[in-house]
Amino acid sequence: MEVVANGIWKYRYGIPEKHTPVSLRTTEIKKDSLQHIKSMGKSPILKEDISIKKTLRGVLIELPLKAEEQIYGFGLQLHSVNQTGRKKVIRVNSDPVADTGDSHAPVPFYVSNAGYGVFIDTLRYATFYVGSNLRKGKSETKKFDEKKIGTSEIELYGYQIAEGDRNVIVDVPFVEGIDIYLFEGPNMREAVQRYNLFSGGGVLPPAWGLGMWYRAYSAAEREDIERLAETFRNDHIPVDVFGIEPGWQTKAYSCSFIWDNNRFPEHEQMLKGLYDKQYRVNLWEHLFVHPTSPIYPPLKHLSGDYEVWEGLVPDLAMKEAKDIFANYHLEQFVEKGISGFKLDECDNSDFVHSSWSFPEVSQFPSGLDGEQMHNLLGNLYQETINQPFKQIGKRTLSQVRSSGALASSYPFVLYSDLYDHKVFVRGVVNAGFSGLLWVPEVRQASSSEDLIRRIQTVIFSPHALLNCWRIPNPPWMQVDREKNINGEFHENFEHIRDICKRLFEIRMSLIPYLYASFANYYFKGIPPFRALVMDYPNDPNTYDIDDQYMMGESIVVAPLITGETSRCVYLPKGNWRDFWTHEHYEGEKTYRITPDLERVPVFVKENTLLPLAKPVQYISDETVFALNVKVFGDAPEEMHLFEDDGISYDFEKGVYNKVSLSWDPKSNGTVHRTGNYSGKRYQIISWEKV
Ligand code: GAL
Repeated sequence: MEVVANGIWKYRYGIPEKHTPVSLRTTEIKKDSLQHIKSMGKSPILKEDISIKKTLRGVLIELPLKAEEQIYGFGLQLHSVNQTGRKKVIRVNSDPVADTGDSHAPVPFYVSNAGYGVFIDTLRYATFYVGSNLRKGKSETKKFDEKKIGTSEIELYGYQIAEGDRNVIVDVPFVEGIDIYLFEGPNMREAVQRYNLFSGGGVLPPAWGLGMWYRAYSAAEREDIERLAETFRNDHIPVDVFGIEPGWQTKAYSCSFIWDNNRFPEHEQMLKGLYDKQYRVNLWEHLFVHPTSPIYPPLKHLSGDYEVWEGLVPDLAMKEAKDIFANYHLEQFVEKGISGFKLDECDNSDFVHSSWSFPEVSQFPSGLDGEQMHNLLGNLYQETINQPFKQIGKRTLSQVRSSGALASSYPFVLYSDLYDHKVFVRGVVNAGFSGLLWVPEVRQASSSEDLIRRIQTVIFSPHALLNCWRIPNPPWMQVDREKNINGEFHENFEHIRDICKRLFEIRMSLIPYLYASFANYYFKGIPPFRALVMDYPNDPNTYDIDDQYMMGESIVVAPLITGETSRCVYLPKGNWRDFWTHEHYEGEKTYRITPDLERVPVFVKENTLLPLAKPVQYISDETVFALNVKVFGDAPEEMHLFEDDGISYDFEKGVYNKVSLSWDPKSNGTVHRTGNYSGKRYQIISWEKV
């Protein structure tokens, strides 16, 4: 066992493949931050407890799993949270409809509530059997009860977990050897922190990235975009970022990366108008390069041997290809003010409806094959598009449809074409186990209730995105109302618009709190959004919760789905307060909550200082947030805001302030600033004891 960093061990078997997430990584381990997490100096799994052998298929690994352990992770798993007893295939899939492991972002990493994590360093479609099978003979000594054999399907074949101490079996095809990384706790949360710090730390988005996002209808033309942009500002509806969908280009499937002058005549003027109104602009694209694109000729010999949608698949694992792609984006878009790109379709085909992506047997000039490329492409694409932003010294944040191992530092949030609201909530719960961010985006709504419930989830999520590419005329538009897709929007236009607006404002009031949570992600690796079990690993009531999550250190969010007028919420140990009414709740209990349509169950831990900003319509580089600090409880803990310019990478060189808020019943609130950032982004206006 080799010590890689404080609390992280590596165990090597045989000769691993040349291309793995670790061998191809471009991020650095955050060794300094790892030093701050206490280590027992002992690998959480001993070498003698790991069995590995070569098989005809590749390599077979067996890791111990104690009877009472619960296992989580494997990337963005949209169909289950607790993975104990399940089988998961680490295979990228653009339409992951079933609980097979297939995902936009599968990751060969899991964590246990016993307080450790395991990462298998491979790009192969590895299969994990999480305690689902016992070794031959193990059941011989078991005491069988007199239970009658069931006759229903569920009794006969239902989901059953093998009992007692067992194993996690990992089947890694094709390889001759493997590296296994083990992450110490002591608790699950620290194990995840270590994995994120090993990955390079969590991302700190630009402050504007945490504001409201709006992607326009797919058929929108210049005029529509301008009208919408005008309406938002006139009606004081907060929006930071405007996203333009595929139609901005002359060719989109595959991409030409050239503005279409018919739909967007004199697009520079349009962009200037948007920038003047303080919008950031984000462009949709994917990475398949159309023959009419200026980057087609230089990329041709640097691409895979099969086309996708008549375009090249550039081999972004080759520096030369990456630079051509990144520099084109730098010169044509980033230097002209574009602040991000939505990276679509870098996931594999869906295996259900069509096979549009490149085959697994593809070959790439870097030596990667199609299987490895599918599990790596999301990461490579994120790195490539991040490059121009690093070059100009300005941070970005955007969306991506595929990601993978060691990806926590990339400034991208995952999304999907799946659209079940419950599944979307589960994504928020799950992504945090594996260094990923997920957006439960609003795309369509079956009714105004559905629209409002979905907006409520999105404003209490990592990324407040309304991806309205399927809503031609949403309720915040005053024009062409007869084109509304839903009569109800039309009838109640003003009422619904005002509810939406108030919800957007709630998001804007949370920005300083969220920014501080993301600073914890960057420095300490603590996921800003995470399952309750990560903070309460010994509370069995949290083990299977897939519809509530932690937001930052002190908030529990429990979204409602359309049709539900009430729901059960489990509040873990401690005392809690209703975010809206401040009502008291005792922990370790389940409550039935019945909020009205405008509210969603959100709870704040007692003894929290919660700074809420006066909502702004957008976050400019000069925005100063006016804060009202809500004081929940009599002895609140100190709260630290993270203050920097919100846009550059200077914070990486230590240019930031820690703004400490504290409360004493006698002297009331005090603010203490330390650090070397000369500006001020926060002004504390009032303290409110609640
Ligand atoms: C899909 C993507 C959607 C939208 C659409 C436009 O692939 O997931 O969010 O961008 O393309 O064609």
